Amino acid sequence: MNLNLTNKIALVTGASKGIGAAIALELAREGADVAICARGAKNLDQMARQLAGLGRQVVAVPANLATAEGVQSVVEATLATFGRVDILINNVGGAPGPGGFLNLDDEHWLAAWNLNLMSAVRFSRALIPGMVERKWGRVINIASTSAREPDIVVVHYNSAKAGLVALSKSLANTYAKDGVIVNCVAPGLTRTPALELSAAKRLKEQGIDIEGLTPDELVNRYYIPRRPLPVGRVGTPQDIAGMVAFLASERAGWISGSYINVDGGWVKSIY
Ligand SMILES: NC(=O)c1ccc[n+]([C@@H]2O[C@H](COP(=O)([O-])OP(=O)(O)OC[C@H]3O[C@@H](n4cnc5c(N)ncnc54)[C@H](OP(=O)(O)O)[C@@H]3O)[C@@H](O)[C@H]2O)c1
Repeated sequence: MNLNLTNKIALVTGASKGIGAAIALELAREGADVAICARGAKNLDQMARQLAGLGRQVVAVPANLATAEGVQSVVEATLATFGRVDILINNVGGAPGPGGFLNLDDEHWLAAWNLNLMSAVRFSRALIPGMVERKWGRVINIASTSAREPDIVVVHYNSAKAGLVALSKSLANTYAKDGVIVNCVAPGLTRTPALELSAAKRLKEQGIDIEGLTPDELVNRYYIPRRPLPVGRVGTPQDIAGMVAFLASERAGWISGSYINVDGGWVKSIY
């Protein structure tokens, strides 16, 4: 399918690896120029080179997106180069700290909310007004199936992602009349650096010796018994990126306020 994103400007948060990197590449392949951001400059530069290799204009900004200043610096650098953002992908997220409700203190909770929810609030507040003015925009928030079927480990993360889903619906209902379409994508188990790190962290928390285990073994040992997937395999970042690129396009103009699972069949409910 040709999604025809030529001449569109996209901003993808947390785009130096994992799902965000795959989304940035997919949007660039479809013709968009792209702004990317993350903390680590090395991976970010590598991604910027890959995107430029596709013939796209790229802005890469190192910043901590869990802070208001970090978000502001990315917005300013992007607008200074491109003058506008048409497609905003609020992808950055994660579950800081240990697992289990009683192990999580206020700092862990606030860190999870700042990273998963407030980053999206801040980017949306800065960039939606321009989309409204131009009568065209897309905001796609990367939530998680954990918002719909919360586990008992990353309670702070599940709650922040559920907040992100509610935010998406409110913004969708507010701005659809202005041509700004907001949706949420809910990845299930997706093979990224974060998933490997999380598997290692959770196994260690259980007192399991992970010395010498490969990334595959870590994921298989921790996640597969807990999350048997009907499709029979863990997802790839590209599985998520395809859906996001579709939602970013004109073809998805009548999908607004949706919360779409891309999860290998993991979520059991039909709503
Ligand atoms: N993987 C899964 O199974 C899965 C499932 C459901 C939902 N998700 C969601 O999908 C999104 C992407 O996850 P992923 O698995 O691709 O994660 P990942 O592999 O850890 O990649 C995260 C990206 O965000 C950046 N990042 C992390 N913290 C940041 C911060 N404070 N400021 C700026 N950049 C930051 C990272 O770069 P730096 O570290 O250099 O900053 C990296 O580019 C997240 O919202 C996650 O919750 C993932």
